Amino acid sequence: MKEILVIGGTGAQGRMVVKVLAQSKQYRVRILTRNSKSSRAQDLASLPNVTLMEGRQDNQKDLHRAFQGVYGAWVNTDGFSLNEKDELFYGIRAYEIAQQEHVQHYIWASLPYTLKYGNWDEKYYAVHANTKGRIRDFVLAQGQEGMKSSILTTVPYMEMLLDGMFVPKEQTDGSFVWRNPATTGRIPLIALEDVGHYSLWLFDNIPESAGLDLKIATEYVTFEDIVNTFTRVTHKKGIHKSLSLEEYLPLAEPFPNAPINWYAGPDVARDESTRLWRESISGFWRYWNEELDGFANMDLLDRIHPNRIKSLEEWMKKVGYDGRMKPIMKGPEGLRRQKMRSKRNSKL
Ligand SMILES: NC(=O)c1ccc[n+]([C@@H]2O[C@H](COP(=O)([O-])OP(=O)(O)OC[C@H]3O[C@@H](n4cnc5c(N)ncnc54)[C@H](OP(=O)(O)O)[C@@H]3O)[C@@H](O)[C@H]2O)c1
Repeated sequence: MKEILVIGGTGAQGRMVVKVLAQSKQYRVRILTRNSKSSRAQDLASLPNVTLMEGRQDNQKDLHRAFQGVYGAWVNTDGFSLNEKDELFYGIRAYEIAQQEHVQHYIWASLPYTLKYGNWDEKYYAVHANTKGRIRDFVLAQGQEGMKSSILTTVPYMEMLLDGMFVPKEQTDGSFVWRNPATTGRIPLIALEDVGHYSLWLFDNIPESAGLDLKIATEYVTFEDIVNTFTRVTHKKGIHKSLSLEEYLPLAEPFPNAPINWYAGPDVARDESTRLWRESISGFWRYWNEELDGFANMDLLDRIHPNRIKSLEEWMKKVGYDGRMKPIMKGPEGLRRQKMRSKRNSKL
């Protein structure tokens, strides 16, 4: 079995990749994690063909150790923990170190380069997407001599309806309300379960996947579609209230003046380059509302993964969606624990 290093393997996206690769029985998986004792790391380590290696994405010695001896790599750096400059630097270093360590196939988990696709207009500056898009361009520019590379470009997770920006608020009358700046633009959503299958296909099909940017999505939906699907599936009333960015930002900001890497907590080092969450998220909403991204090739996705989840409705039924929050993302989990610890300590 060939060994694949998965960076971000304990995260919402990466763990789906770990599971599918390990189950394929063609690949062994090595996960880079800061804490091999976390419950998510331990759950994954209990699967056959999965091992853990402690280390950081933002440490070059750790990256050398992590890439040493593996056949392939699947890399999703975490822009919500690393600041923009660090993600850019370590994103590029990860690729260079993989070349140095003779990795044979490299998959970069990317997002659309919103600033570039928005004709370099600053109002579309969504930090986490830009950084990944810049690194995508860098990776593809190195060509396919030697180490092969593929890009897996994702879009907002469908699971953000469970945890994150798209969770509605339950009202006392039993209805669910989404308040956000969505307009009539169709936003692509990707069901996380399928990310693993597309990644396996990329590893398995190098003649087609080398140099490919595989853009994946499950369905393109407006918030009106989300509300209607929710009511159809759950028989509960759903309402969407479209807010201006000025109305929305104070309601949604994780904490006042949160930086984009807010998972790292309020005390992270900042400098002139550090963008605020509110600036970046404004770019995110403008970009998706205006449908600047173009559409994924659904025929190609159907060929690669015939059993993919095909619609929001299918996903809602599959996960038993009821509008209530369920933890999916790893980053905020750490913050929630930190908050609880400091609350406990302040009571002592
Ligand atoms: N939310 C969305 O809809 C969406 C869509 C597409 C792409 N993305 C992108 O996905 C990335 C986040 O991944 P996720 O969604 O899987 O988030 P997540 O569930 O919060 O997981 C974060 C992952 O990053 C790892 N990590 C963070 N800092 C690290 C460090 N210094 N060294 C080693 N590992 C580190 C964590 O590992 P340990 O804690 O085990 O070390 C964990 O595996 C972001 O860059 C985001 O832009 C998000």
